[in-house]
Amino acid sequence: MSKFLLNQQLVEEDLPASAILLDIIRHHRGLTGTKEVCREGDCGACQVLLGKLTDGSLQYQSVNACLLPLGAVAGFHVVTIEGINSEQINPIQQALVSHGAIQCGFCTPGLVMALTGFFLANPESDEDAATDAVAGNLCRCKTRHKTAMQSV
Ligand code: FES
Ligand code: FES
Repeated sequence: MSKFLLNQQLVEEDLPASAILLDIIRHHRGLTGTKEVCREGDCGACQVLLGKLTDGSLQYQSVNACLLPLGAVAGFHVVTIEGINSEQINPIQQALVSHGAIQCGFCTPGLVMALTGFFLANPESDEDAATDAVAGNLCRCKTRHKTAMQSV
């Protein structure tokens, strides 16, 4: 039995430790906002936040859920796109909307989670660093994400 927090709810999964987090999120928990594309860690569509207790506080970073086995998230806090906007969309999502930087939207959840993780860890960071942080998030529609990022 593996236990972890998923969007602030305790989850207990009686699955092998090798079960993939992306499958648990989408197929066992019905949280389909996290997208599945390459399943090889190459596109960023499946990114979620992983919170670890470090020096007495929770530190979050974005991770590819398609590469993470259940055993690696036991005791951690996993946050999906559904977990960051239960009350309202966050400033990154608002910037993407305001600048028309969404087309099919398939890459959008991963991009939002990557940027959310980046700004949580680097609140004073600049545009170049933020752009580098999402270098692994592929957008097949070639949407103008950079314009939106300049306004966050
Ligand atoms: S599905 Fe492409 S990185 Fe996970
Ligand atoms: S908006 Fe379509 S893949 Fe990015």
